Amino acid sequence: MQTQVLPVNEQSIALAAQLLRRGELVALPTETVYGIAADARNPEAVKKIFAAKGRPQDNPLIVHIAGMEMLAGIVSAVPERARRLAAAFWPGPLTMVLPRGPEVADVTCAGLDTVGVRMPSHPVVQAVIRASGVAFAAPSANLSGKPSPTNAADTLADMDGRLPLILDGGDSAVGVESTVVSLAGEHPMLLRPGYITREQMEDVLGEEVLVSHAILEKLRPGETARSPGMKYKHYAPKAEVTILRGSWAHYQAYLADHAGPGVFALCFAGEGARLPVPAIEYGAEGDGAAQAHRLFTALRELDKAGARVVYARCPASSGVSMAGYNRLLRAAAFRVVEV
Ligand code: TXA
Ligand code: MG
Repeated sequence: MQTQVLPVNEQSIALAAQLLRRGELVALPTETVYGIAADARNPEAVKKIFAAKGRPQDNPLIVHIAGMEMLAGIVSAVPERARRLAAAFWPGPLTMVLPRGPEVADVTCAGLDTVGVRMPSHPVVQAVIRASGVAFAAPSANLSGKPSPTNAADTLADMDGRLPLILDGGDSAVGVESTVVSLAGEHPMLLRPGYITREQMEDVLGEEVLVSHAILEKLRPGETARSPGMKYKHYAPKAEVTILRGSWAHYQAYLADHAGPGVFALCFAGEGARLPVPAIEYGAEGDGAAQAHRLFTALRELDKAGARVVYARCPASSGVSMAGYNRLLRAAAFRVVEV
């Protein structure tokens, strides 16, 4: 299959809408990361997403909508908590897990009785949904296991020949996938951290948002994940990544001891020049939003630079930084060394 990459304009939006209505795939930008869209109601279309990504069938997809009226049929109830979070954070980088409605294809939700829904703020997503009338399922546009792409070039690198169209809408502003919160249980629970933080949601809800322990800990063997995506190896570059938790001085000293061929640093902005190994930077220390914005691109840059062993600086684990920390832990297969 030939993959076209087109700039965003009226014609390319119309083509994307036509492909979606016909049950084909379209890769497109969102404010978080690039996604691969298919009609969430059409099981044959959604199956093509799993094939293009090499994604395990038991990992459910998020359904994207452009307005609250589109929730009908996709969810079976809109709890009060969901209305409040939607009023505060939609359109935007927040996914809510809600009771599933009758119109969503089984394969979209991996057979669960819940569905993840999000209303993205990106104008291209809004335009494509409006032009097609299609609520689309869309996972991140990477091959399963790789870092999510945040621009059209990285999307093409993974998806060339696997789908007919990539819309090029420039860099994704946020850089990590949406926050996922479950509102289907007794208490709200954070399943995946993102740009919208647990603390922000607690302010709006006036109650505690529990944190799934799978966010910052490895699942025990045989344990089932509330968010199936959390159980897979993810975001991994080719190199073996280890997170070094400790001071800057100890980080520098550790790298001086471990320098060698193929050894790289993944450090904060402005630190690279002071290290004894080649370095890729990913946002200033303490700036969780800047770290999130750069992390996936930085992981892909390490691959391109030929890194074989990577020692990463450790971000904070609360607020927006939790998003980057959660992704980096998976990229490192939970290897953390105290220095
Ligand atoms: O920012 C995003 O959310 C991007 C863009 C394209 O919108 N999409 C995205 O989709 O990250 P994906 O498929 O890469 O990640 C979906 C995550 C997975 O961890 C999945 O397990 C979880 O959401 N998820 C989806 N539906 C769920 C459900 N019903 N219950 C629990 N977790 C769910
Ligand atoms: Mg993904």
